[in-house]
Amino acid sequence: MNAKDVVYVNGSICPRAEARVSVEDRGFVFGDGVYEVIRVIEGRPFAARFHNDRLKRSLEGIRISLQGSDSPERFVEIGKDLLKQNGFLRGEATMYMQVTRGAATRVHNFPPPEVSPTVYISVARFHPYRDLASSGAIAITLPDQRWGRCDLKTLNLLPNVLASQIAKEKGAFEAMLIRDGVVTEGTKTNFFGVVDGALRTHPCDNHILPGITRSVLRDLAREVNIELDETPIRVDEIPRLSELFLTGTTTDVMPVVTLDGQPVGKGKPGELTRKLQKVLAESLASGD
Ligand code: PDD
Repeated sequence: MNAKDVVYVNGSICPRAEARVSVEDRGFVFGDGVYEVIRVIEGRPFAARFHNDRLKRSLEGIRISLQGSDSPERFVEIGKDLLKQNGFLRGEATMYMQVTRGAATRVHNFPPPEVSPTVYISVARFHPYRDLASSGAIAITLPDQRWGRCDLKTLNLLPNVLASQIAKEKGAFEAMLIRDGVVTEGTKTNFFGVVDGALRTHPCDNHILPGITRSVLRDLAREVNIELDETPIRVDEIPRLSELFLTGTTTDVMPVVTLDGQPVGKGKPGELTRKLQKVLAESLASGD
């Protein structure tokens, strides 16, 4: 009832339409910042402490220091207030948190220390891809043209944006990226594949984002006696994939049934995929 449409920018909550950042903000000019997206179910942010840890790591990785009492934990509390004010305490939502190096005259090196980071937090209604999660999705492969620190969740998403758009134009849900002959991850997802009965994914190194869903699912899989083998899947192994699925905060477990026009396994979501889809859904429903 009478939910507001409000966001948080630099210390205050205001109507989205009135929220302002400077044209000199380094997020705008250089993509000089980091972000997080947290899934919210019935008002509960899922796996928030893992997102907080990753945000800290991303901030340290690009050498941004938060000021005063600011912290990822505090941002989540502000996000909860936004959920309440925006009327998202019921149903599904997402929480977005972004920190940039602040606003200053454009020079490439860092601004003087008195320039405060810009903090932006917003929430949105979220609708899971239920139909696609049931039928399975189409994916394509594309070269991974990103930089060497994909482990940091930075705003520099241009290669992801371009690859994602090509996927969309080809009628695919996701582009899976290939670097040095192996599948790294998707433009906004990690992936798991089954080759010769083994569940595999790319290891957490500088070429992938250490996905929260990836790590939650690895632990859940272990609980049902499925071990994850972090040996990357080579391009020449793709035709031997019997199952393939994507994972992400806004993707859950998404079966891939067609890759580059070829059926994956039997061309429908596999048994292991269904099992892991179920355990993740249960975990999401029960909260963190
Ligand atoms: N993307 N890999 C990349 C490149 C991503 O951008 C994401 C998440 C993931 C999955 O990570 P997680 O399970 O922590 O969501 C993997 C978010 C959702 C986004 O950019 O909107």
